[in-house]
Amino acid sequence: MLLTSGPTREHLDPIRFMTNASSGRMGFALAAAALRRGARVTVISGPVEARAPKGVRLIPVVSASEMLKKTLAEAPKADVLIGAAAVGDWRFRHVSTSKLKRRGPIRLSLAPNRDILAEVGRRPFRPAVVVGFALETTRLLENALKKLRSKNLDLIVANGAESLGAPRTSLTLIWRSGKALRLAPMDKARAALRIVDEAAALLEAPSPERDVLLSRRGRPRC
Ligand code: CTP
Repeated sequence: MLLTSGPTREHLDPIRFMTNASSGRMGFALAAAALRRGARVTVISGPVEARAPKGVRLIPVVSASEMLKKTLAEAPKADVLIGAAAVGDWRFRHVSTSKLKRRGPIRLSLAPNRDILAEVGRRPFRPAVVVGFALETTRLLENALKKLRSKNLDLIVANGAESLGAPRTSLTLIWRSGKALRLAPMDKARAALRIVDEAAALLEAPSPERDVLLSRRGRPRC
């Protein structure tokens, strides 16, 4: 299982950067849950204080473009990819190699980052099951379903902003068919086990498309 986790960080100069409030707790909880279920787990993580669970192969990254590069390199080896990272949507167009000096107003220009899950989702060697998260502050179900379709995901886990950095979470699971299941609020360890179990169930469910993806990598469906 391959996981992206934590925030990404986009530097403006060697000192200053733009990031978000992700603690990486959900990603590490998913890693721990997957280990508990017997998976071999690689986590590509942005800068976080939290420690990765013992037994995980950790690939630390800083920026969204580094996370994309590492994910594309690791994805062909994984059966399941869960994108739990809060990937920054923009980077600074100009990054200064020396500390910018303070002098009045400054105009900063941002360029969009590429979408990691969408890029993996359209590759022929994509993992057989790809799970994403949708962080929404409005129209949770509608926006999450749009993300599932546009990124070619098998399952999307929708949550509100209150989950970011918090120990507990309220999740709604949405499948490709449009089926949605709202889970009661629970701590992230329990939520992670549930998500890992749903991903494993998808991996084992009969699906001609998934059989092709698994056999391309010489792995029969178990
Ligand atoms: N994601 C990604 N690469 C990006 C942005 C997001 O892989 N550049 C993944 C996240 O890890 C998550 C899912 O896509 O699994 C949805 O992320 P989210 O921040 O909710 O949405 P965005 O796609 O960035 O869309 P928006 O910010 O417009 O809601």
